[in-house]
Amino acid sequence: MPSPTLTTAWQSLLTHRDEMGLPDIKAWFHADPERASRHSMAVAGMLLDYSKQPVTGKTMSLLVNLAKAMNVPLWTQRMFAGDKINFTEQRAVLHVALRNRVNRPIVVDGVDVMPNVNRVLQQIAVFSDAVRGGGWRGHTGDLITDIVNIGIGGSDLGPAMACAALKPFGDPRLRTHFVSNIDSTHLAETLALLNPASTLFIVCSKTFTTQETLTNAHSARRWLVEKLGSDGAVAKHFVAVSTNTKAVAAFGIDTANMFEFWDWVGGRYSIWGAVGLSLALLIGKERFGEFLDGAYEMDQHFCTAPLAQNLPVTLALLGIWQRNFFGAETAAILPYSQALARFPAYLQQLEMESNGKRIDREGKPVDYATAPIIWGEPGTNGQHAFFQLIHQGTSVVPADFIFALSSEYPQSDHQNKLMANCLAQTEALLRGKDAGEVQQELLKMGFNAEQVNHLTPHRVFPGNRPSNSILLDRLDPKTLGKLIAAYEHKVFVQGIIWNLNSFDQWGVELGKQLAPQILADLAAGLGADEHDSSTHRLIGAIARRHGGKQ
Ligand code: F6P
Repeated sequence: MPSPTLTTAWQSLLTHRDEMGLPDIKAWFHADPERASRHSMAVAGMLLDYSKQPVTGKTMSLLVNLAKAMNVPLWTQRMFAGDKINFTEQRAVLHVALRNRVNRPIVVDGVDVMPNVNRVLQQIAVFSDAVRGGGWRGHTGDLITDIVNIGIGGSDLGPAMACAALKPFGDPRLRTHFVSNIDSTHLAETLALLNPASTLFIVCSKTFTTQETLTNAHSARRWLVEKLGSDGAVAKHFVAVSTNTKAVAAFGIDTANMFEFWDWVGGRYSIWGAVGLSLALLIGKERFGEFLDGAYEMDQHFCTAPLAQNLPVTLALLGIWQRNFFGAETAAILPYSQALARFPAYLQQLEMESNGKRIDREGKPVDYATAPIIWGEPGTNGQHAFFQLIHQGTSVVPADFIFALSSEYPQSDHQNKLMANCLAQTEALLRGKDAGEVQQELLKMGFNAEQVNHLTPHRVFPGNRPSNSILLDRLDPKTLGKLIAAYEHKVFVQGIIWNLNSFDQWGVELGKQLAPQILADLAAGLGADEHDSSTHRLIGAIARRHGGKQ
C-alpha cells in the first residue's frame, strides 16, 4: 500500500482543511437547521451524533474517499476471511470468529475454526451453569461466591471492564475481582476480602508466561493451600484460560479445566471467548450470548453498511481528521456512566497497543501521526478535575461522550442530572462564551468597568471544541457488545488507513527483556556495567536499602 499521504484523497483533504480555515462549527449549526440529523447515525440501539465535529458534507465524502483509497473494504474482507493479516507474527486476526453467531465456516490453514470456537463456548456455558447452580463447589463443599481473575493487559482489562459494566445483570451471590499488578498490594488486598473455601481463581494468560500473572498465580495458590491445608484443594479452586496447554499443566491445573483460545485471537481482542470466562460466570451463559450477539450485530453492520453510513468507519475517519489534519495529540473517552468507569483504560490498550506505531506495513518509518494518546474518566467526575483544560486549555482535545438513556439503578433524578451534565458539557464545548457575553454577565453581577476588563479574558471560552456523542438505549450485555465491537473496528480502520500492522505489539517487549537482568542485579546487590549510569545508580540505591533481599 502507498503511504496515505500520497493518495489524492489525502491531498484533497489538506486543501479542504486549508480552505475551511478555523472551523466555526457554531455558525454551521445556525446556517443549517438539519446539521445534527445530517451528521448523525443510528445503528441498532446506538446513536452517534458527530455534528459537533469540524466537518461538512464535503469533509465526510473526502474522508470516505481516503478509506476507499486505502482499501478499507478489501482489508475488512481479508480479516473476516481469516487471512494472515498480522504478518509480523504470521497470524490470522479472528476475534470476529468468537462471535460468529451464524457459524459461517472460517478457514485458517485449511481448517474451519468454528468447531473449536463452539466447543469452548459450550465448555464455558457448562462451567458457568455449574458454578452458578452449585454443581461446582470448593474443596470443602462450599458454594463459590468469589471469582478472582488473575491476568494483565488483554487478559484483564476487557473482563474487568465488562464485569463492572454489567454487574447489575450478574448473579448477586457472585463477586468478581481482578488482580493484575505484580505489586503485592493488589493481590494482598484482594485476598484479604476472600474466604478461600468459596473462592475460584481464573489464571488468565494467553501465553501463560507473563511474569506478573504467573507470580500472582503462584502466590494465590500458596495462600489457598495454606488456608485449606491441602494441595488437593487446587483442583477445585483454580482453572486456566490460555493457548498454552503445557504451561497450564506445569502450573498444576488439570487441563480439563483449561479454557482454550488460539494464536489468532489478539490479547486485547479476546474478551469474546475464554478470556470472558469471569464475565460468563457473573452474568450467565444466556446474557454472555447476548453480549456476543451485540458484537455480531456490529460486525454485520461494519461489513455491509456503505462506508458513509458505517458507524465504526465514521468514528475512525473523524479520529483521522482530528489527528492528521488538526494535529490533535490526544483523544478523551468520557463515559457518563459509572458502570463504564474502566472503558477508557480498556480503550487505551485497544487503541495504543494496536496503532501506537511508527513503522508502516512496508517496514518504513511513517511521516504522519498515528494513534493519539487515549485517556479519560467517567463523567461527572472529570468535570471537577481536567475539564478546565478541555474548555480553556491550549490543546484541543476531541472527546467521545458516551451515555445511556436509562440507569440500572433508577434513583430519583440522578439519571436526568447525569445526562443533563453530559449534554451541557458538549454544548459548552461547542458554544463557548465570547468576551461580549462575559462582559454582560459580569456587569449584571455588579462588577465595575475596571473589574470587568480585568476578569473578562479569564472567563472567555473559545468554543468550537469537537466532540462525539454516543447515546446507548441501555447499557445491557447486547449493547456493550456492540459498543466494544464498534471501537475494535474503528481501530482496525485507522490501522489500515495509517498502513500499520495493528495486531502485533513489539513495543512491549524490550522492557520485559531487560527486567530479568535487573532483577538479578538487584539480588546480587550491584548494577552490571552495561547499564546507563542512571539505572546503575538506582540499582545500587535499591540494593543498598534492601541488602539484595525482597
Ligand atoms: O505485554 C503486553 C501483552 O502481551 C498484551 O498484549 C497482552 O494482552 C498482555 O501482555 C497479557 O499477555 P498474556 O495474556 O499472554 O499473559
